[in-house]
Amino acid sequence: MRTEITIIRPDDCHLHLRDGEMLAAVLPASARIYARAIVMPNLVPPVTTVKQAAEYSRRIIDARPESSHFEPLMTCYLTDSTNPDDLKAAYAVQAFHAVKLFPAGATTNSDSGVTDIANVYPVLEAMQEIGMPLSVHGEVVDPDVDVFDREAVFIDRVLEPVRRDFPELKIVFEHLTSKTAVDYVFEQDEYTVATITPHHLVLTRNDLFKGGMNPYMYCLPVAKTAKDRDAVRRAAVSGNERFFLGTDSAPHPARMKEKAGAAAGIFNAPTSIGYVTQIFEQLSALDKLEGFTSIYGARFYALPPNGSTITLKKRETPVEMNWEIKAGHDVVKIFKPDVSLFWDLVD
Ligand code: NCD
Ligand code: ZN
Repeated sequence: MRTEITIIRPDDCHLHLRDGEMLAAVLPASARIYARAIVMPNLVPPVTTVKQAAEYSRRIIDARPESSHFEPLMTCYLTDSTNPDDLKAAYAVQAFHAVKLFPAGATTNSDSGVTDIANVYPVLEAMQEIGMPLSVHGEVVDPDVDVFDREAVFIDRVLEPVRRDFPELKIVFEHLTSKTAVDYVFEQDEYTVATITPHHLVLTRNDLFKGGMNPYMYCLPVAKTAKDRDAVRRAAVSGNERFFLGTDSAPHPARMKEKAGAAAGIFNAPTSIGYVTQIFEQLSALDKLEGFTSIYGARFYALPPNGSTITLKKRETPVEMNWEIKAGHDVVKIFKPDVSLFWDLVD
């Protein structure tokens, strides 16, 4: 049995770093593992301009631990009034690597998101023309749609029409959670790819309620059934280069999680690569790990593979660590599902 593996240093193709004290607190965990990350723009206010992105990127770089070369790849928060020409100019100088579509009201800090996909058709047209990726939070916000069906309904109501109208638009269907979404992506061509998170490889919706309602297992899209999780796992280990890792690590202070109306988002950066490796081992797919974590995402975003490697080791006893970090006066708890972690990075 294999107990050690060395892979090209991974990229995190979907990451929430926040700002200020929270940024300073969470960044070292990502920088320890990942060389680059596609950084989500859902700050308050959202990152919608090149100037905001450049300033945010500078703050991330300034918050890096000494000797870290972690590289933030910025994204633009799509609104009803995003200007296609501004976007073209920004993409040409790599100020943005992708545009993020949050349906308005779908998730944390999505209030400025798109209210009707028709409003952004001119933007999608421009993006298709220049080959700029659209990163999609694929859930409808219709209150009449069951929370567990919102991803599937999004495919029918939004994704499929967009796919049809812009066949060569590069689309990243972010954080897949359902068998329906996995099947959909498998059926598409090279213009549709998907990210998969560590927590959706591990959790089912039972975990939300195990031992009492647990907000630390709550994120959006919400975890689904075991059958759905198994489909997501199958996609991750398939070796199909249209599925790659995006952690969706999304820190919230404990005081925002441990209350009625708990915030959606799981802070998994510190344990992300450990859990992913563990699941790949369980599925006898360690040979597929490097593609999923370090090659396919970079290839999709037209980046060269990273020049360094990381090594992961399987411990004989569960990894011991402090399962929380401090951010200013706040505490942020680290993703700790009901499954012991045995794989850890060797520094
Ligand atoms: C994310 C956050 O907290 O910013 N939350 C989440 O549950 N995943 C937003 C998002 O990506 O949906
Ligand atoms: Zn996210």
